[in-house]
Amino acid sequence: MLAGGTYPAMMALGLLKPAPAHAFNLTGSGNGKHIIILGGGLAGLSSAYELNKLGYKTTILEARERAGGRCWSVRNGSTNTETGMPTTTAKFDEGLYFNAGPSRIPHHHELTLHYCKELGVPIQVYNNVNEGSYYFAEGKGPLSNKKIRAREVHNDMRGYMAELLSKSIDHGALDSSLSKEDTQKVLEYLAAEGGLDIDKLYKASARRGYSESPGAGNKPGKISEANKLADIIQSGLLDPDFYNVAEYTYELQMTMFQAVGGMDMIAKALQKQVAPSLKLGAEVTNITNLAEGVKVTYKDATGEHVLQGDLCICTLPLPVLSNINNNFSGDVSRAIDYIGYIQTGKIGLQFKRRFWEEDDHIYGGITHTNNELTQIFYPSYDYLSKKGILIGYYNFNEKAQRTGELNYAEREKLALEKGRLIHPQYDKDFERSFSVSWHKTKYNLGGWALYSSETRKTQYPALLKPDKHVYFAGEHLTYLNAWMAGAFESARSVVAQIHARVTEQRVSYPATKQ
Ligand code: ALA
Repeated sequence: MLAGGTYPAMMALGLLKPAPAHAFNLTGSGNGKHIIILGGGLAGLSSAYELNKLGYKTTILEARERAGGRCWSVRNGSTNTETGMPTTTAKFDEGLYFNAGPSRIPHHHELTLHYCKELGVPIQVYNNVNEGSYYFAEGKGPLSNKKIRAREVHNDMRGYMAELLSKSIDHGALDSSLSKEDTQKVLEYLAAEGGLDIDKLYKASARRGYSESPGAGNKPGKISEANKLADIIQSGLLDPDFYNVAEYTYELQMTMFQAVGGMDMIAKALQKQVAPSLKLGAEVTNITNLAEGVKVTYKDATGEHVLQGDLCICTLPLPVLSNINNNFSGDVSRAIDYIGYIQTGKIGLQFKRRFWEEDDHIYGGITHTNNELTQIFYPSYDYLSKKGILIGYYNFNEKAQRTGELNYAEREKLALEKGRLIHPQYDKDFERSFSVSWHKTKYNLGGWALYSSETRKTQYPALLKPDKHVYFAGEHLTYLNAWMAGAFESARSVVAQIHARVTEQRVSYPATKQ
């Protein structure tokens, strides 16, 4: 232990390196205490990874034949099982993939980036913001079924709103609150923000793009006409579930990243580190807190097995855990049943030509629709290559529920029928699809935890504490729901709690029996 004051002094002398942003500086040994980890997703894998470093013995029970959980990139041969449907297998060309789960990493999710660095997973920029992608209002208003570039909608709205505000300021709206000089500054700002002319009127400028591109010689280009404000409104483009500026959401602001070659490279790198701890194909059927320690029953291809450990970290998604026998307290059982999960789904569509790049000049980013698709995601990798996979829909809630009720062929039909309204090239260039409905997917039964202020207050706290020897971890036990960072932060928090219990508090456990 360094005495108070010594550490900064040594740093100043250059004798110590500054701690990395996310060093996990736990000291002391777990002395071979056996921690059983339920679920081999990112929370389970990273818990085992950190515990192994600290001298614990860990066993991860993962029901699937693959680790990673929702951190899953669908490639040729990937399989999935949904409620009431036969197991389906992806038939994509070798080398093509789409991220069925997480596809983007915010730049401020330090711990996710830390693990990429520590595990040697290369990352690349994920282009989440693309002003060249479209808004598409199907069957609504004067702009119905027209592809409108995001830059057109965003700049028209900035322009009209700036004009409106300027006019109201001219009519004295700010008189009482701002000095004359400051009011003038606001008017100047509005003119710049909205691209207003000398008369404080919004007219389309190059910001919203061209109907004829500028070029060589006598081709100055032709600036496209602004859409009328009333048309934008009546087509529903401003509806809260439609109007979408990614930069208005903290987690969606650039810079965003992705793992090169598929987001599951992160899971695979962790899996490699904890391979001796990992049991695949091991489905948990019973979790029992004993007077001392914990007993977990699981079944695999060879039958039923009982595993006994000192402590347990349960990372299973709550809708899955809800169906597993246990002797948890009433508060914990209630929380497991009451905390909601989102319904969400994605479809990957393989095309033989990257028409969105070649014809539409769209390189990454998202098209927004008011129909069942909700969004089309364009890949932010392998630009200019021959083929590619689009995420043909990424929807939520009722739309995801309705889509999820369709069989695989019907989902494909829906994605193609709606998608071709935006990209008629679908007809000629489509090859194959693979869809995932997360709330119907075995061993997930939901997209991610979705709290109301009520469940956050009344149910969430019960799972932040261990139920005797069982700790709970995963994105659902954070305020980072739906993000890989949630899985990592939660895993670390629980590992720290366990380590404190085992080392500092000298809690004694019986020898591990297996
Ligand atoms: N993290 C999820 C996403 O990126 C919500 O879409």
